[in-house]
Amino acid sequence: FQAKALAGKRVLITAGPTFEPIDPVRGITNLSSGKMGYAIARAARHAGAQVTLVSGPTALDTPYGVHRINVQTAQQMHDMVISHIAEQDVFIAVAAVADWKVRKQNDQKIKKQGTEDRLSLELEQNPDILASVAALPNRPYCVGFAAESENLVAYGESKRIKKNIPLLVGNIGPQTFGQDHNELVLFDESGHTQLPAADKHYLAQQLVAEIARRI
Ligand code: C5P
Repeated sequence: FQAKALAGKRVLITAGPTFEPIDPVRGITNLSSGKMGYAIARAARHAGAQVTLVSGPTALDTPYGVHRINVQTAQQMHDMVISHIAEQDVFIAVAAVADWKVRKQNDQKIKKQGTEDRLSLELEQNPDILASVAALPNRPYCVGFAAESENLVAYGESKRIKKNIPLLVGNIGPQTFGQDHNELVLFDESGHTQLPAADKHYLAQQLVAEIARRI
């Protein structure tokens, strides 16, 4: 008999994009599909964890046995994470959170106006959810993701230190959004390790095993 790697642990995961409204019918978002975060949620549950998934808008089914909470904006994702963080053992920030939101949302649909061919939107920074959690006094074990388009190894280590987290996972290659495959590099205090390119579900299992080994 081998105990499950995350038996009895509580794991909170963010996944998917966020959607920042411009007006009632438009918004700013990104190409995250949520596949990596959902695969990690499934793998963590499979490893025996009690999993909460705070998800931006995706087209994915909720993994079996996972408690999913749907949100739209980065602020909602932040507030939902903070309200559930207290009893968590692990926090995995996989969501592609929009860095910016529209400062003044329009209550009505913006009209094309007369001769004016330009429209300015003023943007304001969203809260950094991972940074907020990492700054908590009784923080859970925090895992972050990075999707750099160049110099991943150099940026990965400095981002892990800047974000003040024990484990940062780098996506190799810019073409991971929406794909079923991925290639990951893990950065921790002892350096970096590359996981061979694989299906996101297989990578998720390996990542969960790596996390379980460290907590
Ligand atoms: O700094 P950068 O956006 O590259 O960091 C990415 C990591 O931070 C990811 O783990 C992402 O989920 C998390 N993040 C966050 N809140 C933000 C921006 C990023 O939790 N507003």
